[in-house]
Amino acid sequence: MRVMITGGAGFIGCNFVRHVLENHPGYQVVVLDKLTYAGRMENLQDVMGRIEFVQGDICDRQAVDSVIRSCDAVVNFAAETHVDRSISDAGSFVRTNVLGTHTLLEAARDLGLEKFVQIGTDEVYGSTDVGSFSEADPLNPSSPYSASKAGADLLARAYFITYGLPVCITRSSNNFGPYQYPEKLIPFFVLRALQGERLPVYGSGKNVRDWLYVRDNCAAIDLVLHKGRPGEIYNIGGGNELSNLEITSRILSHLKKPASLIEHVADRLGHDFRYSIDSAKMRNLGWRSQLNFEEALNETIDWYLKNDGWWRSLL
Ligand SMILES: NC(=O)c1ccc[n+]([C@@H]2O[C@H](COP(=O)([O-])OP(=O)(O)OC[C@H]3O[C@@H](n4cnc5c(N)ncnc54)[C@H](O)[C@@H]3O)[C@@H](O)[C@H]2O)c1
Repeated sequence: MRVMITGGAGFIGCNFVRHVLENHPGYQVVVLDKLTYAGRMENLQDVMGRIEFVQGDICDRQAVDSVIRSCDAVVNFAAETHVDRSISDAGSFVRTNVLGTHTLLEAARDLGLEKFVQIGTDEVYGSTDVGSFSEADPLNPSSPYSASKAGADLLARAYFITYGLPVCITRSSNNFGPYQYPEKLIPFFVLRALQGERLPVYGSGKNVRDWLYVRDNCAAIDLVLHKGRPGEIYNIGGGNELSNLEITSRILSHLKKPASLIEHVADRLGHDFRYSIDSAKMRNLGWRSQLNFEEALNETIDWYLKNDGWWRSLL
């Protein structure tokens, strides 16, 4: 199989590229990535000899056509992803997440692809104080980021219903692991704590997120790519719900840093209180989270300790 991985130079994308190379040695991988601030060639350095890389924008039909035409499947990770950035500038989110996904879907429409996997997020369901969302629940996004991702999901599903494009959509919870850009909570706090700087926790710090190890997410996406039923949506949750204060304390304790580094700051605008999804459908497909959360978190923190060359230039 020849797989087009858009956004393959970003956090989850580069982990998925490695997952495919390790688990499907006969596959050809082509990465299409615009290399925004979040996409970095360093993320693919050790695998560059084993993949094809094209720098290009998913909104650019010519660039998309030049890659997609030779491929059997597409996994679309390319996106603007940081909620805080979407609050200050929503335009690039609408452009890449909605129009870019539309460009890919149009280019894919009549090619006879085996699968088009659209990578979505649990944030499209919005916040809930109790229970967990299933794939059939209505979408209720709060931020420009999640609204743009919901738009992309709906378009992708419409291309299945209208044109029969074999689309599957994954909606995962918050990922963590190696190569995550240090604007996201875990690497941001790890790097600040390492430098003895304060950790700015939004509001009360009681907001809850369900943490998913990126390698578990990659295994789930692989399963959806091969076994997902066209037209279906699959929630991928880590089953590790923690408040922001709890995860911050675990980071500080692994790094042996004092709790006095925590600083409460004004809450994020429109901050969702709790995300929670039910992953029963994914489990029915045969997926199980493989890693103990504590071990995965500590391994991730240690990865940042060992790879300071990767992050120092980003600070
Ligand atoms: N990180 C998470 O916790 C999480 C959770 C659920 C879903 N997701 C989704 O997973 C996907 C990947 O997330 P991530 O955390 O790896 O993101 P990231 O920000 O680390 O990487 C995004 C990648 O997309 C590329 N990109 C951006 N705009 C592009 C464009 N117009 N054309 C081509 N490439 C472009 C960037 O260069 C970068 O390599 C996204 O679709 C995101 O919405 C992420």
